[in-house]
Amino acid sequence: MRIRKCILTVLFLPLVAGCHKVSHVSEEVVVNLRQKGTDISSSMYGVFFEEINHAGDGGLYAELVQNRSFEEDEIPEGYRIEGTKLIPLAKPYHLTGEIRERSFEWYGGKIRGWNLKTGDLSEASMRLTKERPMYPTAPNNLELFIQKTTGAVQLVNEGYWGMGIRQNERYHLRTIVRVDPGYKGTLTAKLLSEKGDILARALLPCIPDGEWHDMTLVLTSVATDCKSSLAIEFDAPGKVWLDYVSLFPENTFKKRQNGLRKDVAEMVAGLQPAFFRWPGGCVVEGITLNNRFEWKKTLGDPAARPGEYSTWGYHCSYGFGYYEMLQFCEDIGAKAMYVCNVGLSCQFRMGEASEKSDISYYIDDCLDAIEYALGDTLTEWGARRAADGHPAPFPLQYIEIGNENWGDEYDRRFDMFYQAIKQKYPQLTLIYNEMPERNGPMGITKTDMVDPHYYVAPEFFFRNTDLFDHYERGKHTVYVGEYSCNRGVGGGNMWAALSEAAFIGGMERNGDLVKMASYAPLLENRNNRKWPTNLIWFDSEQVVGRGSYYVQKMAVENRPTYNVANDKVLRATDTASYVPGHIGFGSWATAV
Ligand code: AHR
Repeated sequence: MRIRKCILTVLFLPLVAGCHKVSHVSEEVVVNLRQKGTDISSSMYGVFFEEINHAGDGGLYAELVQNRSFEEDEIPEGYRIEGTKLIPLAKPYHLTGEIRERSFEWYGGKIRGWNLKTGDLSEASMRLTKERPMYPTAPNNLELFIQKTTGAVQLVNEGYWGMGIRQNERYHLRTIVRVDPGYKGTLTAKLLSEKGDILARALLPCIPDGEWHDMTLVLTSVATDCKSSLAIEFDAPGKVWLDYVSLFPENTFKKRQNGLRKDVAEMVAGLQPAFFRWPGGCVVEGITLNNRFEWKKTLGDPAARPGEYSTWGYHCSYGFGYYEMLQFCEDIGAKAMYVCNVGLSCQFRMGEASEKSDISYYIDDCLDAIEYALGDTLTEWGARRAADGHPAPFPLQYIEIGNENWGDEYDRRFDMFYQAIKQKYPQLTLIYNEMPERNGPMGITKTDMVDPHYYVAPEFFFRNTDLFDHYERGKHTVYVGEYSCNRGVGGGNMWAALSEAAFIGGMERNGDLVKMASYAPLLENRNNRKWPTNLIWFDSEQVVGRGSYYVQKMAVENRPTYNVANDKVLRATDTASYVPGHIGFGSWATAV
């Protein structure tokens, strides 16, 4: 039964010189609501999170202090610095045996995030040391040597391009301090506006016994300034060591401790994601394996977390760790997707492969991550989850086995992971990376889903709305884990967003096959764009969704439950004439 007709008129202009006619062609789209097509999965729209563009530190994660643990100048083992470049450990690329020449951004020179302000007549210096660490897992601490004071010496942290401090908000400061018995002064914490006005002030307990003391206090700001900073003041000669200086707004998303920045988290939650992919992205793999993202090191007291140099050119704190991610999933009603490392480092970087005898280590590491989320509290990692504050299981549903890996070695490892995980957790959905670089059929026995990625120009999406119409059915379903129009569109524009909308239409039409999709990357701190085009932009003051964000939002808010049959009929309706002419160009002297 024809219920609704949609008439679109298209004008075809014949390009043959001298032609006098144009045809008006009506395109009738006939929708048959009674002929039900494929369902569109309720898990269709989710998000992809990675520590890139300061998405976590200085972004979603609410910590205001940059380099709070003084670990940011730590380089991965075996790497070296050459000027402003970080040179990785020489490891052969496992597909070819070559040692690739790669270098990464290094920001060394001074202690990242921290400045010492002495005024004209005071004298003080600071240095990093690993002497008597409070936590051996995060061994660096800052030694301050105050030689002479006339006024106060200030140790200042400006956060991530300024701290977003708001009037009447409460901020929780935590410091781990060791004061030498020779220091006879006080310790004061201050929030300062960009101009230097005092927004909040409090004395820290000063116990000059040469031992570490872990202390907290609350600072309430008298005004708003999104370019604020935190200062710790010293007013006497002597030595003081700091292991950790952390400042959190009390008002985090859902008031979680070690929580998320409310406005950024709300923006993500606004997408009502059915799933949340974490931790990446290339950070999963690392430049070399010793630089991969390690979930176990993200658990527990944030002061004891070492962090890691992100493949995207800065050190991340591991503050938004596995527990925090799982908690966020629960808070926003999303299923968690954990991406594990299969013992291969990023194949666009060094492409190291672990020894074959170590593959079982990586499989166990992944099984432990699953047990942490799902295991009962009598299991080793389920007990750890309970000890971390969450006895009930978390909503983990998807495991992506490797990120952007390909080749025979990946396929072999995939089979091993698939078998080991399925055997223990048959309810989980396991995902294989479908990379064009694979060059040939997949060499695996079985997968539940494949994950192809598309970073393309608008024309690609417009031309390929039927891409999945031609995809093989029956073997597995598809998760488009990373896609965005990011070629030739700058930071993103309306044309790019429209092309994504067109592509989404194609995914929905193929809902029997494409069950999930996530735009990537999700977040960008406007002061640190590491990837050309990202969905949500923010700085210390505000957060903004680009056009593409609203495409995602519209898709999720209007997700159809099923497709209906439709047909397109083209019909020539009338003709018209136009005035013919010529196009030409000419030249005279030096002008054309
Ligand atoms: O989304 C940015 C990067 O693109 C991801 O880290 C990686 O998986 C892909 O190459």
